[in-house]
Amino acid sequence: MAIGWFPGHMAAARKEAAKTLAEVDVVIELLDARLPGASTNPMIETLRLHRQRPCVKVLNKADLADPSATAEWLKALGAEAGVTAVAVSCKSVASARRIPGIAAGLVPHRDSKLKPVRILVMGIPNVGKSTFVNALLKRHAAATGDQPAITKHQSRYQLDPRTELIDMPGLMWPKIAHASDGLMLAASHAIGPNAYVEEEVAEFLAGVLKERYPALVAARYGEAVPSLDAPGVIEAIARKRGFRLKGGDLDYRKGALTLLADYRSGTLGRVSLETPQSRAAMISAASPPADVEMKARRPSLG
Ligand code: G4P
Repeated sequence: MAIGWFPGHMAAARKEAAKTLAEVDVVIELLDARLPGASTNPMIETLRLHRQRPCVKVLNKADLADPSATAEWLKALGAEAGVTAVAVSCKSVASARRIPGIAAGLVPHRDSKLKPVRILVMGIPNVGKSTFVNALLKRHAAATGDQPAITKHQSRYQLDPRTELIDMPGLMWPKIAHASDGLMLAASHAIGPNAYVEEEVAEFLAGVLKERYPALVAARYGEAVPSLDAPGVIEAIARKRGFRLKGGDLDYRKGALTLLADYRSGTLGRVSLETPQSRAAMISAASPPADVEMKARRPSLG
């Protein structure tokens, strides 16, 4: 599935991000705890590494993610150079407010009134950035909502005399390298519904659930899934819920939308779409081994 999602304001935001990164000391990158790999913006990562800025990777929406997968992600991300990883739910104001202190701890040379810590907050759309910033600012002024890319302008705030916060717009990148990343981002609503076919995204989600969380599907829809394929899971949901079209056929689309809504709201339970292991396996399956690639490129001598 081709997901093409790079509106003009995001291209402008990228330029602004590159400029701002030069001026800050530390980055807070919000990731979706259910898909920490897919929700890592490679553009941000490249900009940040280029500028050698330390980073707090915040696995937000941890309340919706599988705790054992989150523990694995914390270990894997925390092992990256210059990175501290924490899992939170920004719906809890107290947990969100721990994060700037963790960021300041990464740049002790800046933590004074004369040299306030300058923190850049970044993340993909809908990851919970406005919720996070609002929790820090103790207010409800920034628009939060479950539609991607509501925040369009960079904002600066003085959190306290020693800490300055710069809030960047939710950033996407021009080309999503792996199809499954696009599907995970769509399932989790980082990408607006105009960019994908919802049934296709629901089938991807059904496949993950069938593989890793069959008990949650059975508990929610009263349907054992081992014998079903992904479309079969959606059909079973439509059948159980009595979703029928006018002629009496199953309403497959309504089944698909129900599955997506139940996943997004957490009604289905705590579901992670990827683990460090599944991501490593996906990436190694996607890229052919180097020697195979070279052989393919070498002209035939025979
Ligand atoms: P953004 O600025 O990054 O685009 O995201 P925003 O804060 O607007 O959050 C997007 C949605 O994610 C909102 O839901 C918000 O409440 C929800 N959210 C943010 N952080 C968390 C979290 O840690 N856990 C959970 N479960 N949800 C989180 P919404 O659909 O607008 O619902 P509502 O809760 O605001 O009514």
